[in-house]
Amino acid sequence: MSGARASWIGRLEGAWARSDEVFATLSPAAFSLRPIALRHPLLFYLGHLPAFAYNQIVRGALDEPPLDAALDTLFERGIDPESASDAVSLASWPSVAEVIAYRDRVRELVRERVSSVLAKRDDVLCDKGRVLSLVIEHERMHHETLQYLFAQCPEGAVARASAPSPDVVGAGRAARAVDIAPGPVVLGARFDELDFGWDNEFGAETRSVERFWLDDLPQRNQDWLDYMGVYSMGAQASLAPASWVSRGGQWLVRTVSGPVAMDEAAGWPVQVSGAQARAFCAARGGRLATEAELHHAARARSDSDALADPALVDWARARPDPVGSAPESASAFGVEELIGNGWEWTSTEFAPRPGFEAWARTYPGYSSDFFDGQHDVVFGGAWPTDRVFLRRSFRNWYRRSYPYAFTSFRVAYDERATR
Ligand code: AVJ
Ligand code: FE
Repeated sequence: MSGARASWIGRLEGAWARSDEVFATLSPAAFSLRPIALRHPLLFYLGHLPAFAYNQIVRGALDEPPLDAALDTLFERGIDPESASDAVSLASWPSVAEVIAYRDRVRELVRERVSSVLAKRDDVLCDKGRVLSLVIEHERMHHETLQYLFAQCPEGAVARASAPSPDVVGAGRAARAVDIAPGPVVLGARFDELDFGWDNEFGAETRSVERFWLDDLPQRNQDWLDYMGVYSMGAQASLAPASWVSRGGQWLVRTVSGPVAMDEAAGWPVQVSGAQARAFCAARGGRLATEAELHHAARARSDSDALADPALVDWARARPDPVGSAPESASAFGVEELIGNGWEWTSTEFAPRPGFEAWARTYPGYSSDFFDGQHDVVFGGAWPTDRVFLRRSFRNWYRRSYPYAFTSFRVAYDERATR
């Protein structure tokens, strides 16, 4: 086996092993749960990962026939609907065992086809193994998607992983606004700069960022609780994050190992939608930062485009840390945790960079389906964000109204904060 082939198979097996660990926490009955009405039942994801691999690599890049035309299509793509009625009904779906058999056939075929992919160097999808990277990164993105779906499952429905330890405990510390000096920042990458990047990463551009003020930390569950306290009881219910659950008159915070008491979670970044984050910022006399502003503020040094070290990412723990636990993540401006411990909402609508091209002919809609004015860029990463996504040009986004992902925020100001 050639070195290149062996190393690609190793990377595929690494992603598959993580998938198997993630699904191993589900009982067979849990696969029919649909914890978020705007997403498919969990069984969809068990089939989606192999169907995507087959459709991209074997059918797409190598032009071979379907493996199982019905399953290839059923599991082809997920949903980001505006209403829950767009989601597929589970009634006619195959059993867990049938989906696992399909998955294993796909894995065997993909292992066999790696050499054919690497041999097709005149094809942009195959050169540098790009379609293999695309499949590996897609699978690793869904590991994170599955974690926020699991956190929304009714307690007891998922055989939870045991509570992770050792955890960093404490209430965190309140954010302080710091002065961000103006300067140019490079966003995106050139196609020839990276072995692999998603379509939305390309079209490198230099933006100039004006002077502004930015909180050195994100807002915490405790800060959100204080914010809700300002409103009447009636208004409070609609302000509660979807990451919270009420029990016996107390708010608990959802995790993949079940809800935990607020005194344990008070210091974690609060997980909310972009719309909720904007409302909070406005109430504080501030705003969300733009994507360019967060990129600029996250730089390790003012004379380099490299980003500061991450805070909690890459499955180091299965829950957030109290904010302020990663002083080593401080950027040149003294801003902490811009990467890691939760994605952060920006005010930047998800839109193509100049020169955008959907270079992957097998997946033209990866980004372009979401250039609709309803999705905003989120910056950074969260505890289940794989290290592969820490490259400077990587972009992530969610529907502005979506409250379920591991998304938090920090406040920016146009004038020196008076607090
Ligand atoms: C890039 C994280 C927004 O989960 O909707 C997975 C990734 N796209 N399968 C999502 C994705 C298709 C996507 N995000
Ligand atoms: Fe997907």
